Amino acid sequence: MTTLIRNGTVVNATGRMAADVLVDGETIAAVAAPGVFTEADTIIDAAGKYVIPGGIDGHTHMEMPFGGTFSNDTFATGTTAAAWGGTTTIIDFAVQAKGTSLLSTMDKWHEKADNHCAIDYGFHMIISDVNDSSLKEMESCIDAGVNSFKMFMAYPGVFYSTDGEILRAMQRASETGSMIMMHAENGIAIDQLVAQAIAAGRTEPLHHSLTRPPELEGEATSRAIQLAKVTGAPLYIVHLSARHALEAVAAARNTGQNVFAETCPQYLYLSIEDMKKPDFEGSKYVASPPLRPKDHQTDLWRGLRTNDLSVVSTDHCPFCFKDQKELGRDDFSKIPNGMPGVEHRMDLLHQGVVAGEISLERWVEISSTTPARMFGLNGRKGTIAPGADADIVVYDPTAKQTISAATHHMNVDYSAYEGMDITGKVDTVMSRGAVVIADGAFHGREGHGKFLKRDLSQYLI
Ligand code: URP
Ligand code: ZN
Ligand code: ZN
Repeated sequence: MTTLIRNGTVVNATGRMAADVLVDGETIAAVAAPGVFTEADTIIDAAGKYVIPGGIDGHTHMEMPFGGTFSNDTFATGTTAAAWGGTTTIIDFAVQAKGTSLLSTMDKWHEKADNHCAIDYGFHMIISDVNDSSLKEMESCIDAGVNSFKMFMAYPGVFYSTDGEILRAMQRASETGSMIMMHAENGIAIDQLVAQAIAAGRTEPLHHSLTRPPELEGEATSRAIQLAKVTGAPLYIVHLSARHALEAVAAARNTGQNVFAETCPQYLYLSIEDMKKPDFEGSKYVASPPLRPKDHQTDLWRGLRTNDLSVVSTDHCPFCFKDQKELGRDDFSKIPNGMPGVEHRMDLLHQGVVAGEISLERWVEISSTTPARMFGLNGRKGTIAPGADADIVVYDPTAKQTISAATHHMNVDYSAYEGMDITGKVDTVMSRGAVVIADGAFHGREGHGKFLKRDLSQYLI
């Protein structure tokens, strides 16, 4: 089966050009001057559109246990929604429960995901029980292509690791060349602020943000960076939301340390003001780290331009307003933490291109090319080039759409971006040569997506 995508503008992280793309089977066979190829089994006309590598969302939580419930997208529904939005790879977090092993956790996540995904997928591993055995198991995870390990400085008693435990895991990461990903918030201090707020009757969703001040994200980020420096481990700060944390990352990067960070669309477009919405609507925006005052957004966009923020992922972790967010109606600390977003990352970031915050090439870089390199998929994903997987999005930069829960495909009863007008829209999506989205319809299938055994990071300095 061959497919010819012609008349479009091919956009890679390195530049843009008028070119036609020939797909043969699952891979890209050629990128050629317009008109060089004239025949194929299928021809897609991309006139007036961009032809970009499929998005890679390096941070999702499908079917994740949290706060006595589960995030509401399955691997089937979540990856289908991702495809609708031009994302053709996700990397989801397998969550080690305390008292269980990393390998049994990996098996469990394979059971959830295998034969259910509409697009390709990989795993990171959350370590929440650091001991001799789990530290040893890191090697087996790496051999199985799961070579990035998330740790938490937040959520004492649940996912939290002490500095000593983090240090030990970082030593293993340093020895093996693997990556430590950090949820950097000072959970010990935060839990005191939360207890004080609840005791004083400050129970509304807004207080989720007020009890997790940006200083405590900055402090934890700095501490993680110092621990990484002592151990020599590569460090990737997940879901960075605050200028205080960004400053710490930028300072470390200026010394040449292997420190990287991602931010998420919610921190670029939403703010603490959304958490003030009446009738418990603010709960829709409860995630950690929390939404910040709007002025942090200027710094985050600058960080994306300077590469102190190298990646934008979604941290997609959808809980329905009804019955799930409502668990915390009388106590914000019982609201499951997380927001939906996997479907709209490419569109939301394209607004950054429209607004002049980032270039077209940088859009592709932060949403696809760098995640591919960061997470060991270089050459396979993240580029429109011969030999790469034919994960391709034809994107219409002038189409208009309005984000709404009434039309989205995520399995959640609200949108954090309800009513937001977007310029640009996914037109066609291919996953390894198969058309999954075209003509406003889903043509993919549950189980098409393959597990990606990832190499070690190809982004280290
Ligand atoms: O609130 C969030 N971010 N929920 C998902 C879990 C995590 O910390 O990434
Ligand atoms: Zn986290
Ligand atoms: Zn997350």
